Amino acid sequence: MNIIAPSMLACDFGNLKSEISIVNKSKADWFHIDVMDGVFVPNISFGTPIMQVLKENAEKILDVHLMIINPDNYLEKFSDLGANILTVHYEACTHLHRTVQKIKNLKMKAGVAINPHTPVSCLKSIIKDLDLVCLMSVNPGFGGQSFIENTFEKVKELKSLINETNSNALIEIDGGVNSNNAKKLIDCGANVLVAGSFVFKSENPTKTISELSSIIN
Ligand code: DX5
Ligand code: ZN
Repeated sequence: MNIIAPSMLACDFGNLKSEISIVNKSKADWFHIDVMDGVFVPNISFGTPIMQVLKENAEKILDVHLMIINPDNYLEKFSDLGANILTVHYEACTHLHRTVQKIKNLKMKAGVAINPHTPVSCLKSIIKDLDLVCLMSVNPGFGGQSFIENTFEKVKELKSLINETNSNALIEIDGGVNSNNAKKLIDCGANVLVAGSFVFKSENPTKTISELSSIIN
């Protein structure tokens, strides 16, 4: 089964509990949670208080995407806040191997995200240690941006690397995902699709999730 992870960045924070409940009751598999520090990316999203609400109300996997510098300082905090998968950026980690091991020692799944300009080959020496690779299909920082077409090639390249190395890493695509590119992404080798605006800015998020699910499964 391929996975849909609605990005809560696009939800209505004034009605956070009911937005969470929509995802709980939908065909989505994970919650995608975008934490931005205004330094690694040119935007600040939210931090631990929102994560706490998710911990208390979400009934599915919490997939946390840290777009922050020095993520090592917060690994324990996000473990305490119930993160099941913790993804850090390749570009933000000087000692990525150490960071990945720390995430695993805290009993979370370890993910690494790469920006659109970062080549897949950078992951060669770490791929076997990873549970997930998040390919950014927009420049991180904002929801609602257009999908970068070069991502399809990167998915294929990453899939080959995973196969060659017998890695168990899932391929997650983040940014600009919609019903037009979903099927092709899965055909190229993706396993997890993050969708923010496409889900939450639609008239009926439950229906949109269900339509996306039938496209990819
Ligand atoms: C971008 C975030 C994404 C974003 C996706 O920096 O990592 O998860 O919320 O939003 P959409 O689907 O609207 O591009
Ligand atoms: Zn994200």
